[in-house]
Amino acid sequence: MSATERPALRFDILTLFPDVFGPFLDSSILGIARQKGLVSYHLHDIRDYSLDKHRKVDDRPYGGGPGMVMQCEPVFRCCEAVRQMAEPAGRLLLLTPQGRRFDQALARELSGEQRIVLLCGRYEGFDERIRLGLPAEEISVGDYVLSGGEPAAVVITDAVVRLVPGVLGHGESARSDSFADGLLEYAHYTRPPEFRGMRVPDVLLSGDHAAIARWRRDEARRRTRERRSDLLEEDDTTPETQHG
Ligand SMILES: C[S@@+](CC[C@H](N)C(=O)[O-])C[C@H]1O[C@@H](n2cnc3c(N)ncnc32)[C@H](O)[C@@H]1O
Repeated sequence: MSATERPALRFDILTLFPDVFGPFLDSSILGIARQKGLVSYHLHDIRDYSLDKHRKVDDRPYGGGPGMVMQCEPVFRCCEAVRQMAEPAGRLLLLTPQGRRFDQALARELSGEQRIVLLCGRYEGFDERIRLGLPAEEISVGDYVLSGGEPAAVVITDAVVRLVPGVLGHGESARSDSFADGLLEYAHYTRPPEFRGMRVPDVLLSGDHAAIARWRRDEARRRTRERRSDLLEEDDTTPETQHG
């Protein structure tokens, strides 16, 4: 399916802080993708689904201890209402440091979806029955604890949107990005050819496109071996080309 035939990828973000998303979703690639009609973003305030007259969404943890816990009622009501707002119900991603680690492979998979629903926690996190009772996939953006799921939702949205066909102007950009083919990307240089004694590699100034492609392939492999050997196949002993 071409980018123009494809329905816009719809993001629904469920959060207690919908106002923090504006500048991220409006700027640069994410904003352009929306303008092109390739994606749409829908923010939902979980507080709107509270039945409490003070719009309360959290309470103290049973058993005592610090912090507050997000309650079932508003989160279930919000998720259920939002999922019914459009077809299909979409992939529901519950953001938690305890979830499956988000990576480029998952970003690529999600970029092929029609709808993604992101559920952002706050405080000490969700009442366990939210995890148990909703058809959600638990996703983490890394082994650290954020104060809320909002930065994680932005990370996931950004990584997914740039992979939606037609979003990036230059068809090659996402294809050579780090992780796209299991390697880190090669180094980039722009003008001037020399800055504070540091020179651009001669091959990049040579105009020899085959040599440049070779250098980039080797550079990607060298950098990956140096920085992230865990990304290379265990039996990958392919040597880099010798550059004279
Ligand atoms: C302070 S955290 C709660 C952490 C929880 N008490 C724990 O230790 O697992 C509040 C919210 O931030 C979000 N969050 C924090 N770290 C995250 C991460 N690494 N990936 C995704 N979401 C995260 C989750 O939505 C979470 O409910």
